[in-house]
Amino acid sequence: MNDVRDLVTLIEKARRLVVLTGAGCSTESGIPDYRSPGGAWTRHKPIYYSAFVRSEEIRRFYWARSFRGWTRFAAARPNAAHYALAELEQRGSMLQLITQNVDDLHQEAGSRAVIQLHGRNRLVVCLDCRAESPRADVQARLAELNADWIARSKWDGLHADEADFAPDGDAELAREHVAGFQVPACERCGGVLKPAVVFFGETVPPELVTRAMSRVDEADALLVAGSSLTVWSGFRFVKRAADRGLPIAIVNIGPTRGDDLAAVRVDEKVGIALPQMMRMINSGAMAHFDIPLDLPHASRLAERIVNLIERHIEELGVDAPTVVESAERVSSILFRFGDEDVTPTDNESLAARDEAAVAARELVTQLESSPLKSDRLGQYIRNLFECLELGAEGAEISLRAGENPNSLQRPI
Ligand SMILES: NC(=O)c1ccc[n+]([C@@H]2O[C@H](COP(=O)([O-])OP(=O)(O)OC[C@H]3O[C@@H](n4cnc5c(N)ncnc54)[C@H](O)[C@@H]3O)[C@@H](O)[C@H]2O)c1
Ligand SMILES: [Zn+2]
Repeated sequence: MNDVRDLVTLIEKARRLVVLTGAGCSTESGIPDYRSPGGAWTRHKPIYYSAFVRSEEIRRFYWARSFRGWTRFAAARPNAAHYALAELEQRGSMLQLITQNVDDLHQEAGSRAVIQLHGRNRLVVCLDCRAESPRADVQARLAELNADWIARSKWDGLHADEADFAPDGDAELAREHVAGFQVPACERCGGVLKPAVVFFGETVPPELVTRAMSRVDEADALLVAGSSLTVWSGFRFVKRAADRGLPIAIVNIGPTRGDDLAAVRVDEKVGIALPQMMRMINSGAMAHFDIPLDLPHASRLAERIVNLIERHIEELGVDAPTVVESAERVSSILFRFGDEDVTPTDNESLAARDEAAVAARELVTQLESSPLKSDRLGQYIRNLFECLELGAEGAEISLRAGENPNSLQRPI
């Protein structure tokens, strides 16, 4: 078993990290998983897709249980693990977050590059016409349709307690209790409504798997957080990463199916280990940022980067630099912050400035001449802003044309 330091070492080396999360990431938000020791798997099995589609009775059962569990599911908020992963993405070295969770909490915490393999529990889809509606609306319809039933039901109010609140937003509910529970039909076509999540026994949309898999193929490391990897749907990415020889880190309480493939294995709550990892990353090491050189419309985008930087500078209340041309602008902006406390005549800083200017010119030339991938641009801009902000606080910033001329380094 490793500690968080080993995790930091692995994560810091990664430039194109893919993160895979599971139900364990959300237990600290109050949404239980299936496979924690003594978890819901031992108490109640989820409803399978085939049964849901086949049987009206099973659907009644599902919706009654889900109706009861919804309030608590809907009230769940991101925890420290979600925020740490969002912060990691903002640092710019995370390519993709792939989650098996259906609770949207990664997005709520600020993660942007998210693939939700198993769909979203906050949406309901019609199996017949594919119309989508918010789960909250369906909850209101359920409440309306079943007002009498709720009034005479043996429920202890409508709030599921800790013990019988189960994953997927369901709550355990004895079958005999659901007799008479009314299930609303699709408002558009009268079809069968189902939460927009992938049920057990249902296939993950192949295009999602392909997209997620191609991210793993572009990755240089994989981090798994809060998943037992029992389900093939998630495990396949770990398998692929291992086949490609990528370093794999797993943070999970208890064993996982990927343990033998992992270079780093941390047995700790994600809400503790991941924020600790971020604190360690933030407090010491050198951050390297790869500048994307493969976006389309490069020169316009280069111009936009410069404009954005300038606007940001205004917001920070710093004097705008004197601008000669794009290349100069980039170098002088970066340099202005970098040499705030340095005498510009000192040889070392002049050499550094020249080095920065050369690198900046190279950057702009490359941006202008290369086909670029636009989703990386935002990431690059965020990295740059982060540098500028830190620079304003006195950190040293440099754009270097060293070993890797495409890499922006920020020694803190
Ligand atoms: N939040 C959700 O959206 C949610 C919740 C439950 C289930 N599900 C669905 O059910 C499937 C279950 O598979 P799974 O592999 O993701 O979950 P899982 O239940 O198989 O595994 C969760 C793992 O996380 C560990 N764990 C629990 N709390 C933890 C914590 N705080 N820190 C670190 N580890 C912790 C458990 O010991 C367990 O090994 C998922 O694919 C998902 O579709 C989703
Ligand atoms: Zn419909």
